[in-house]
Amino acid sequence: PPRRFPVGRPADYPPGSVTFVPDRRLFVFNTPGGFYAISAVCTHLGCNVNSAPGKGFACPCHGSTFEADGRVRTGPAAWPLPRYAMSLSRRGELVVDTRRTVCPACRLKA
Ligand code: FES
Repeated sequence: PPRRFPVGRPADYPPGSVTFVPDRRLFVFNTPGGFYAISAVCTHLGCNVNSAPGKGFACPCHGSTFEADGRVRTGPAAWPLPRYAMSLSRRGELVVDTRRTVCPACRLKA
């Protein structure tokens, strides 16, 4: 499957929202500082993690938890949830590129 794909328009994501995109297995955040995307795939064995707004992420399979920025809080997962690069297409769509990871402070203004 393509690793760079559109996930909709900025207006599809209300301000302050955390949206799970099931077919891409990631979360899109719309914060006052901009947009960012975090993988929903647990780095232990690949289950989808759940998001608790403001509290990070929890994996239902073996109990790993992650901070809101994707860092591991408790294992067995040993690796953080990656943040993916985002851009805005010429058509005005948000595009996620899972081939590129970005820093925790990186945001897309759109
Ligand atoms: Fe998430 Fe094991 S797959 S803790």
